[in-house]
Amino acid sequence: MTGPVPRPAIRGIGVYVPGKSRVEGALRAVKLSANENALGTSPKARAAYLAAADGLFRYPDVRAGALRAAVARKFDIEPERLIFGVGSDEIFTLACMAYLDLGDNAVQPEWGFAAWRLAVAAMGAEMRNAPERDYVVDVDAILDRIDARTKIVFLANPANPTGSAIPYTEVLRLQRGLPETALLVLDGAYAEFARAMPGFDAGLDLARRAPNVLMTRTFSKLYGLAGLRVGWAYGPESVIAALDRVRLPFNMTAPGEAAAIAALEDDDFARASIAHVDRERAALEDFLHGLGVRTIPSWANFVTLVFDEDARARAIDERLAGRGVLVRGLANYGMANCLRVTTASAEDMAAFRAEFELTLAG
Ligand SMILES: Cc1ncc(COP(=O)(O)O)c(C=O)c1O
Repeated sequence: MTGPVPRPAIRGIGVYVPGKSRVEGALRAVKLSANENALGTSPKARAAYLAAADGLFRYPDVRAGALRAAVARKFDIEPERLIFGVGSDEIFTLACMAYLDLGDNAVQPEWGFAAWRLAVAAMGAEMRNAPERDYVVDVDAILDRIDARTKIVFLANPANPTGSAIPYTEVLRLQRGLPETALLVLDGAYAEFARAMPGFDAGLDLARRAPNVLMTRTFSKLYGLAGLRVGWAYGPESVIAALDRVRLPFNMTAPGEAAAIAALEDDDFARASIAHVDRERAALEDFLHGLGVRTIPSWANFVTLVFDEDARARAIDERLAGRGVLVRGLANYGMANCLRVTTASAEDMAAFRAEFELTLAG
């Protein structure tokens, strides 16, 4: 008996491994492993979520109309050129379903975000890695890997798991070098945290005027709604229409939509979140550099540490976990010599600093 046989394309896919979230036997873990919002959730979003409970028996709006209008207003963009997904993760999958056939390929920078790879593999397409220069995206290396069968190019700016970012001039150079038949997915999951970077731009204007650019954004980071899974994308009408064809009709939940609208309107929470990341990221980098630990210059809400040896990173990861401090080992990204640390509350950062010093000493 063999049972149903899955398509060959999906047999080799490894299930996504998230950052650690629990310590066996510990009452409380300091979770610095998933790039969540250190300030939690906007109180206004929380209230909107609870208020939505009365309507749970109803199907949500198939077009997420209220959220669509709110995002369009906030970013001054056309509502009909938006699509919403179960996190931006779902939008990557929709793009792969819409554009990748067997024999096609997608290109990503060497240290690309894990969800892209899974979505490309599920379509039986090839993912090509373009080497980076010292953990920074190399546009020429990406362009070198493009051919007639390249249908999608992924770029997160800032990137995860490195935290590095490239200036807008480089993003433009990438887009200009692509054939129009290749869709550039500009993943802006951390874009708001890079505002202070000279020459940074999330690419909204590029997505407005180019025929092949889709900019994705998320409510999981800045807006503190990772648990509700709300992401969106903005791009050419033809691309949005293609993605809409493969989207499940009711992919947004009504409470998710309500909370996202309230979060979008809570400028105080967003401002405080950005200020918190700016402050804690600088403090974390100073602390680590003071101990002689190398970090990748970060423009996201986390800092990635680079060690000389894989074994050193693994030992620190394990010792920290043993003390209840959870950071993100990056072996599944092929960066086994690195650890990623999310900027968390001041209290959690203090706990990290104390335990990290002990760990280095031990
Ligand atoms: C680069 C990048 N893109 C997208 C996402 C996914 O975000 P979402 O929660 O919207 O699916 C993440 C989450 O960690 C990320 O790091």
